[in-house]
Amino acid sequence: MRKKVTVVGGAGFVGSTTAHRIVDRELADVVIADVMEGVPAGRALDLVESTPIVRSAVDARGISTASGDYGETANSDVIVITAGFPRKPGMSRNDLLQANFEVVKKVVEGVVPHSPNAILIIVTNPLDAMAQAALKISGFPKQRVIGMAGVLDSGRMSTFVAQELGVSVASVHSLVLGGHGDTMVPLPRYTTVASIPLPELLPKERIDAIIQRTRDGGIEIVNLLKTGGAYYAPSAATVEMVEAILKDQKKILPCSVYLEGEYGLNDVFMGVPVKLGAAGVEQIIEVTLTADEKASLHKSAAAVRELVDILGLNG
Ligand code: LAC
Repeated sequence: MRKKVTVVGGAGFVGSTTAHRIVDRELADVVIADVMEGVPAGRALDLVESTPIVRSAVDARGISTASGDYGETANSDVIVITAGFPRKPGMSRNDLLQANFEVVKKVVEGVVPHSPNAILIIVTNPLDAMAQAALKISGFPKQRVIGMAGVLDSGRMSTFVAQELGVSVASVHSLVLGGHGDTMVPLPRYTTVASIPLPELLPKERIDAIIQRTRDGGIEIVNLLKTGGAYYAPSAATVEMVEAILKDQKKILPCSVYLEGEYGLNDVFMGVPVKLGAAGVEQIIEVTLTADEKASLHKSAAAVRELVDILGLNG
């Protein structure tokens, strides 16, 4: 059976680069869904015309579009939701709260009846709160609603660690937990270079600078692009999650998931290490945290909870 992935917001930058990566890597058939007129068809045709050149097995038969009505998305294995308003310079991810909640609500209500067994990956910001909204609106079990952020934030941290040390990114494994926002929790103790913990390789002030740049990773790009946010790294992170699910890889990746007691947190989406496989979130891994690290994670959870409260999603 061929696998099927719907990318909602597929005409946007994060959405279209996600679709592009899925096609290039022959992971699944793709539906580019977007409310925008004409653009999804243009994106899809352009992508289709690339397939004879890259020799992708996902060709015209496997690339389609949906706008307005979600019938074409039926029986998707994974639905990636990137739809929403992007940030502009000076805006925090939280500034998008109400507007993007309306978008995510409409999308989830639209796609879920056609794909009741799908796994939802939420990319729209502020994504931990949007994932919590999607869980509530979909009525799906918590294993099948996942926010993308930890993979992106950890990728950014790895970039900066590799640059600082002048080593290959292939040797670096970073771990960033918490919400996808200013309160995210990069963990140097669990960040390794060829298995060596980062604190053995760099002085504290260099690590602190890397942590700050990681936290500001999204806005650094918004400030350069001016008209929107990052998309190459966010789409790469999303597709790593999609692949882990479609291929039942059991990869351990930091993802935003619904916590019910883990890390002493309840009824809130937070980035933590999870095992991703065909069933979605197959396990939440609880690593030991120092008192400071735990306090940072709880502070981050409080920030997400504040947004969830504004939206009236709690309980
Ligand atoms: C970023 C956006 C996707 O961090 O939140 O670039």
